[in-house]
Amino acid sequence: MAKFVPVDIFDLVIFGGAGDLALRKLLPALYHRDLDGQLPVGARIISVGRRDLSREEFLEKVCASLRDRLADSEYSDEFWQSFSSRLLYVQTDALQPSNWQGLKTALEGFEDRIRIFYLATVPTLFGPIASGLSQNSLINDEVRIVLEKPVGNDHASAMKINDQVGECFPENRIFRIDHYLGKETVQNLLALRFANSLFEPLWNRGNIDHVQITVAEDLGVGGRVEFYDQIGTLRDMVQNHLMQLLCLTAMEAPTGRDHDAVRNEKIKVLRSLKPIGAAEVKRHTVRGQYQAGAIDGQAVDGYLDELQGKASKTETFVALKLQIDNWRWSNVPFYLRSGKRLKQKYSEIVIQFQEVPYSIFPELTDRHNANRLSIRLQPDEGVKLSLMLKNPGHGGFDLRPVSLDLSFADPSGARYPDAYERLLVEVIRGNPSLFMRRDEVEFAWRWIDEIIDGWETSSQPVEGYVSGTWGPTASSLMLDRDNRTWFPS
Ligand code: BG6
Repeated sequence: MAKFVPVDIFDLVIFGGAGDLALRKLLPALYHRDLDGQLPVGARIISVGRRDLSREEFLEKVCASLRDRLADSEYSDEFWQSFSSRLLYVQTDALQPSNWQGLKTALEGFEDRIRIFYLATVPTLFGPIASGLSQNSLINDEVRIVLEKPVGNDHASAMKINDQVGECFPENRIFRIDHYLGKETVQNLLALRFANSLFEPLWNRGNIDHVQITVAEDLGVGGRVEFYDQIGTLRDMVQNHLMQLLCLTAMEAPTGRDHDAVRNEKIKVLRSLKPIGAAEVKRHTVRGQYQAGAIDGQAVDGYLDELQGKASKTETFVALKLQIDNWRWSNVPFYLRSGKRLKQKYSEIVIQFQEVPYSIFPELTDRHNANRLSIRLQPDEGVKLSLMLKNPGHGGFDLRPVSLDLSFADPSGARYPDAYERLLVEVIRGNPSLFMRRDEVEFAWRWIDEIIDGWETSSQPVEGYVSGTWGPTASSLMLDRDNRTWFPS
């Protein structure tokens, strides 16, 4: 495990500070960083929310949420006392100009430390909050702003938000979060590709048959159903998390690891994506919606039941076949899929190599015997390389697929920091390389918008799938047509 280097003293202000993301992810992440000794004495976390909560009521909520999420060995009353002494709650309705005094007072006298505003709110508030910060003179030359995903709902709204926030903050102090960029395996993808000479010569159309990216969840939309119904999986998962994984898998070698080197290469991938418009959506996309079924033997409701019978065409599953039009990837299909209430929580990038050009083993007829590199994000982060080897022993020449399995789990059982822990520390350090630049977000939206328009103009149906399966039959058929199958299927 790497050593933790303490960060400089800071004030982190979280808008939406008593909301779901803050309680579920941000505050537990900060607690862990504190536990590892990375937060300096005096650093403060100021939660801003619209609800009228006393500090005690707020602390009770945070404590309950931490107790739910932390291992028994990580929580102690003594450490909670120390962590909670950093926490403040300020009630503010950011849309009311007269309502900012509480926050101004909380920040007064602390101008000499790093100041970060984290916007864990709906994206429509990003612009108004940024101008509120500016009008209330809370921004200086060092202040950073963090925008939680999604930045907008389409290309036009993303541009508008970026313009509004850009009037108050320069681009190098705007940190757009996609928490997948903070995941251990996603970081390791860069190491795997660019710290080894083994893969790069093979990483192209000459050797790779196709690439699959799966981000599957077993959970449904649960308490977020009203919100989710206006969004759907294409916007919630594909526009950001899957596109980032795609870019890191497909990009050229960057000139370095500085923030713009990697992001410049990702942009080139986004610019090379072949559009999927109304004429292509039928063959190249699948939209699905979960129905009642069972996960791990437990019966679960369908999406429409969760919506209490309201009609909805919002997708909870998407599968796409896409092409990257450049020299490296021409004619290599990339298959992406993501969905809720699938068989298990499972995320993986699979690089399927081509079969041997000529086989001296006539029994080797199944294409799934070709080499495959699987980069697993969850569960059990790790890398697996499938090779064909001979079955040991005398008597015939029997081949079998064997996996070189490189689990990332620490043998001591040590916990890996959550993605938000890494990202929060990078914001405090002022390193934007793990965050999305304005043009990345906008290019990704432009490509996604075409698919959404295509679905609307072609009235692409939403296919039902039983909860606990790998999605609609149409998703398997899409690969079947190309004589391929999903891993896993
Ligand atoms: C979020 C999506 O960005 O990512 C959620 O809004 C999704 O719908 C979550 O559940 C998945 O994140 P992870 O880290 O659990 O794979």
